[in-house]
Amino acid sequence: MSKDFFCEVTSKSMLNEDTALIEFLCPEIAESAVPGQFVNITCSNFLRRPFGIASVDRNRGTFKVGVKIIGEGTEEIASFDEGDGTWILGPLGNGFELKSDRYILVGGGSGVFPVNFLYEELCSQDKKVKVVQGFRDKTQIIMNSPEYILTTDAGDAGIKGNCCDGLNTLSKDDIKGATVLCVGPMPMMRAVSAWASDKGLNCYVSLEQRMACGIGICLVCVCKIKAEEEGIPFEHKRCCKDGPVFDSKEVIW
Ligand SMILES: Cc1cc2nc3c(=O)[nH]c(=O)nc-3n(C[C@H](O)[C@H](O)[C@H](O)COP(=O)(O)OP(=O)(O)OC[C@H]3O[C@@H](n4cnc5c(N)ncnc54)[C@H](O)[C@@H]3O)c2cc1C
Ligand code: FES
Repeated sequence: MSKDFFCEVTSKSMLNEDTALIEFLCPEIAESAVPGQFVNITCSNFLRRPFGIASVDRNRGTFKVGVKIIGEGTEEIASFDEGDGTWILGPLGNGFELKSDRYILVGGGSGVFPVNFLYEELCSQDKKVKVVQGFRDKTQIIMNSPEYILTTDAGDAGIKGNCCDGLNTLSKDDIKGATVLCVGPMPMMRAVSAWASDKGLNCYVSLEQRMACGIGICLVCVCKIKAEEEGIPFEHKRCCKDGPVFDSKEVIW
């Protein structure tokens, strides 16, 4: 059961000129969050804003979120500093199921934050993990590691191209039996989903619809998912409550 917690900022750093990484103190969220879940953060004049959990430190009782400034809400949240506090609802939504032994993680845009949490969790479970990150150009690179396969559209860092060009550099051994987990912009997730399907791999994606309540009440976040019942082409599911993680085969792209 998700609750509302008043959380203090324990640290804040800027990853580039428009993206902040903020750590909040909240032992309850740190203890129970799983990768793929998100929190809904209060800002003064607007509805709460959703952010994927980027990392947890269960010993210190803290969790991190990455905030890319794209409007007034994110501008306010990214301006928080150590010692500031706000109400945060979470953890929300269904995270990724982590039952396989081998994973390929793909992140782009603000999807690199939940992918970071996935990577930390899978490494702590000694799973085999490959990570592909895609960015527009080198000024956008954040949350990167030398172990990751890096792609940029501009070709000014890593492999020139998109995430699928990065995926195509994986060896047969890396791919065999892997489950693909992808978080990023819709066109990227659609392309990665098609790549996985072509290779016969299971693929799960995290959809980032616009949200309001974050807890399944307002229906702002509905997305089209293939219906289980025969004869019905699709049904509407609430991204916040039924997702945000879905089997990519079920998503109507
Ligand atoms: C489950 C989930 C997880 C998210 N995780 C992160 C994260 O880890 N880091 C991060 O920086 N952002 C994340 N986002 C996106 C973040 O919530 C939005 O950027 C934020 O709500 C925008 O608020 P704003 O007031 O700054 O912008 P607004 O003024 O509300 O919007 C500015 C512009 O961005 C568009 N926009 C707003 N939200 C979205 C969205 N969800 N998808 C597409 N376009 C949008 C608006 O239509 C408008 O054009 C996530 C969203 C969801 C649903
Ligand atoms: S955001 Fe309200 S139902 Fe999903």
